[in-house]
Amino acid sequence: MADEYVLDTPVVRSFVAGVRAAIDRAASPEEACELIRPAFAELLADEEWLPAAYQAPVPESGMGGGIGQWLLFRAGDGSLSLFSLVVPSCSQTPVHDHLAWGLVGLYRGTQDEEIYDPGGPELRLTETRALARGDFYALLPPRDDVHRVRTTSDDASVSVHLLTNDTGCVWRHAYDPETGAVHDFRSGYVNVACAEDGESGRAI
Ligand SMILES: [Fe+2]
Repeated sequence: MADEYVLDTPVVRSFVAGVRAAIDRAASPEEACELIRPAFAELLADEEWLPAAYQAPVPESGMGGGIGQWLLFRAGDGSLSLFSLVVPSCSQTPVHDHLAWGLVGLYRGTQDEEIYDPGGPELRLTETRALARGDFYALLPPRDDVHRVRTTSDDASVSVHLLTNDTGCVWRHAYDPETGAVHDFRSGYVNVACAEDGESGRAI
C-alpha cells in the first residue's frame, strides 16, 4: 500500500515529513512526541490548513451523535495516521482506546475529557480535564489510552489526532462505563474505506 494523502497539501506533507524524521531520530515514543510538539502546536494554531469539509459533523454517523472521523493522511504500512474528529455540541464519544501512541489536540471548540483506568475489575475514572483550542497532549499507552470526550462548546469541537497506527481501521475497544463491559469495535473513517470491509466506516 502507498501512503495516502487524502488532504494533499504542502502543509500536510511537510508536517508528515517532520513527524517521520522525528520518529527516526527519537529513541522512544516519549522523545518522538517531544520532538513533534512544536510542529503540532503550529498546526493547531494555523487557521488555514484544514478545509471546512474536514470540520463537519456527520448527521448519518452510524456511531450516533453526528461524530465524524475524517482521515487526512495515513502511511501505506499502517504505522501513522492523521485525522480530524468532529464532535457536535453536547455529543460525546463512547469510552474507547487507541492502541497507539501519538499526539491529540484541540483545533476548534472546547471539550471535557474523562480518562479511565481499565486495569481493575471495573473501569475507574482517574482524571477529568477541560480542553480549549490549542491544548494538546501526548498519548502514551497505557497512560491516557482509554478516554471519552464530550463537546462543551456551542459549536462542534474539532480535534486533530496524530497516532502511530491506522486508528480508524484497527480493531480496538469500547467500554461501558457503568458495567465495565468491553466490546471490539472499528471506528472507520467517514471519507475513506478500510481495506477489508470495502465500505466507509463510521466515527470515533
Ligand atoms: Fe480518542
